[in-house]
Amino acid sequence: MYDGDIASTLVTEDDIRAKTAELAVRIADDYAERCATSDLLLVGVLKGAVMFMTDLARALPLPVQLEFMAVSSYGSATSSSGVVRILKDLDRDIADRHVLIVEDIIDSGLTLSWLLKNLESRGPASLAVCTLLRKPDAVKVDVPVQYVGFDIPNEFVVGYGLDYAERYRDLPFIGTLDPAVYA
Ligand code: PRP
Ligand code: MN
Ligand code: MG
Repeated sequence: MYDGDIASTLVTEDDIRAKTAELAVRIADDYAERCATSDLLLVGVLKGAVMFMTDLARALPLPVQLEFMAVSSYGSATSSSGVVRILKDLDRDIADRHVLIVEDIIDSGLTLSWLLKNLESRGPASLAVCTLLRKPDAVKVDVPVQYVGFDIPNEFVVGYGLDYAERYRDLPFIGTLDPAVYA
């Protein structure tokens, strides 16, 4: 599958599984008390976060509800523009709910920075962020992130939800894309 397009494996399926389990324990610890009377609401950012969101939800030993939002930051290019558009909004009100945004990756931070302001204005009881990947060297705007799976180098990565021109999301691991693919 995708023969020759993937230059190297950065995060294996086993790495992802182990890290997700580890994050799930921390999140469950942090939310068990607060969410005793109202379920934790996971807000997945489409489409990249889909794989991580569904695996994290199943790893969490506490009841969660799932919501999705679709925003667009940079379409099929390989770097962010800072332009964020809502393609699909939440189906429900999040006022007084404990909300955890689930992302696949924080690159420039522009998407998340915008999303945090947007969701905060809706009056949640609490708002936090869990991302599988973060690129510290690509960050343009600092955002508070409570749960981070892996800090990775500033390379173009695909797989496990992350795409290049909508492809490679279905790979079960995270790899670097051969520059020849986007040259
Ligand atoms: C990607 C990724 C994050 C965002 C990170 O989404 O899934 O949501 O960009 O970039 P940033 O930190 O520089 O803002 P994208 O806009 O490509 O949409 P997708 O999830 O549908 O692929
Ligand atoms: Mn995304
Ligand atoms: Mg994308």
